[in-house]
Formats: sequence, C-alpha cells, structure tokens
Amino acid sequence: MDIEKIEKKALSELEKLDSLDEVKKFEKKYLGNGGKVSEVFKSISKAPEKKRADLGKKANSLKNRLGKGIERKQKELRESAKKEMKRSFDVTLPGKETGLGHIHPLTSVLRSLCNIFEGMGFSVVRGPDIENSWYNFDALNFPKEHPARDMQDTLFIKQEEDLPSEERLLMRTHTSPVQIRYMEKNQPPVKIVVPGRVYRNETTDASHEINFYQLEGLMVDREISVANFKAVITSLIDKFFTGDVDVRLRPSFFPFTEPSFEVDMSCTVCNQEGCSVCSQTGWIEVLGAGMVHPNVLKNSGLNPKNWQGFAFGMGIDRMAMIKYGIEDVRLFYSGDLRFLNQF
Ligand code: DAH
Repeated sequence: MDIEKIEKKALSELEKLDSLDEVKKFEKKYLGNGGKVSEVFKSISKAPEKKRADLGKKANSLKNRLGKGIERKQKELRESAKKEMKRSFDVTLPGKETGLGHIHPLTSVLRSLCNIFEGMGFSVVRGPDIENSWYNFDALNFPKEHPARDMQDTLFIKQEEDLPSEERLLMRTHTSPVQIRYMEKNQPPVKIVVPGRVYRNETTDASHEINFYQLEGLMVDREISVANFKAVITSLIDKFFTGDVDVRLRPSFFPFTEPSFEVDMSCTVCNQEGCSVCSQTGWIEVLGAGMVHPNVLKNSGLNPKNWQGFAFGMGIDRMAMIKYGIEDVRLFYSGDLRFLNQF
C-alpha cells in the first residue's frame, strides 16, 4: 500500500470541496471508523517485520496531515461564507415592497348591502350551497311537475334516480331556500338578509354566469305589508346608490310569493334620459319580491293566519354592475387584474 499516494490523492480531493457538509463526509471516509486510514493501520500488521516501524510512522503522519488539512479547509470555508454574507446582505438597502391584495368588488358590494340592512335591524344569516329539492323547490311552493323547475336550469348532484325530494341534492339555484330553513328554527318576528352564491346551468354571456351572488331578504311579523317592503327597499337603494333614486313595483310571478312583483329603480347612469344600461326605458330592474305565500309559511311550520311578510331576492352582481357601470358580469370571475385593480 502506497501511503504517500493515498495522501496525495486525499489532499487533492479535499482541496476541491466547497461545503462544510462535504468536508464532514470526507472526514468520515478517511478518518472515520473503518475509514481509509484505519485500513492503512490494519495493513501494517501484514507487512514484513522490518518495514513495520517505518510504515507505522508514515501512517501516523498521514493521519495527522489529513486532520490538519480538514481543519484548515473548514476554517477557510467558514471565513468565505462570512465574507459572502457581508457582501450579499446590505442592511441599508430599502425593503422590497410586497403587493397587498384588496377586497373583490363583489365582496365589497355584498358587505355594504349587508351593512345597510343591518343598520335597519336585519340579521345576516347563511345557508348551504348544496341544497336538496325540498328546500330549493317543494317547500317554496313550486308544484311537482311544474315548468317553473325547468325555468331555473338546475345543476343536480349525480345520484341514483327517484330519490325523495329531501334527499335529492342540487346546487341551490337561489337563496330563497334559506327562508324556509330560518323560519323552521326561528319564530317571528323574522328580519333577515341572506347573501350567498347560487348556481345555474346556463350558457354564459355578458349578463349570465353559471354562478353568481344573490341577497335574499325576509321580514315576517303580524302586520307586515307591501308598504313596509317599499319603505325598506327604497331606503336601501337610496343608501347604496347615494342619490335621489325613484323606485317602482311591477306585477310579476313567483311560486313563493303572492302577490309578486318586480322592482325597478330609475336609471342612475342617464338620469332617465335613456341609455344602453336601461335599454332606453329610464328604468332598471333590480329585484324580485312579493308577499310570502301562505304555503311557504305553512311549510316552515308557521300559521299563515297569524303571520305575514315580504320577501325579496336581488342579484349582487347586478347591483355592482349598475353601481360601477360594468357591462359584462363575466369580468367579476375572470381573475383579470387589469379589471380588479380598478376597485
Ligand atoms: N328566488 C328568485 C330568483 O332567484 C328571486 C326572488 C324573487 C326571491 C321573489 C324572493 C322573492 O324572495 O320574493 O329569481
């Protein structure tokens, strides 16, 4: 065994290392238990007796020199790491600015609508996005085979066929089911709004999305009338659009209200002169509403002889579009920062 050769090879190997980890591995390989140096010591006993003393000296000096080499290399690496730190870390440099996110326009409209209603004494409550057919349709007085169910193209959850309504799951098509859920658990007086996401199986275009947001409202007590509704909704629209806005009711139809109406507000974009937002009519339709149908009260466990109230449902996306003059609802869901950063 040529000890000098081993030393030469080891030292040149050591020279090339450039991390403390590598040096540690090197140390183990040569000086560790069963390492190269211990092999050298073992081999001495097999050498002819004459040579043993000389070999022993050489082996010891190999061990010392490698040990010193390792120490020197470690020191060198530590120092250069320190220098590198100093060079790359300048505490006087200004910090990097991290971009702060901000509230999505729909979230901010939703919050401000809820705030206004809370100011009028309404509580904000929520319900599940995955509903069953009973709450979404039957309890709201949609007749069993009535085309009204197709009117709202529903996204059903894949399930076995012919399940009872209570088990037939779907993505809620409106926030109205929360009316039932709430009245089942809470005795009147009821005064709630329900913000939430709703889903429809629709082809998307500038005014239709497969999901969007609604705000449901419900007020039930002994003597609630359409006049109360008109006062609440006029007040809401005045506050939200901060101006002098006219409100009018038009007769309409919903299975869960009787009578039903649609609510229009005067066009704030053109001051009723006629523009594309109001289709030249001076009026913009903003929500559906009506007096809660007696069957809906019954289905929630209330006696319609004792209780009455109004309900309404407005599109939050639509409110945001009118407020900010946005012509395509899809922009809200595009994630396009050029759009979002304007808010
Ligand atoms: N649920 C209706 C829809 O999605 C909106 C609506 C209309 C809600 C009238 C109501 C109401 O509570 O009274 O189109």
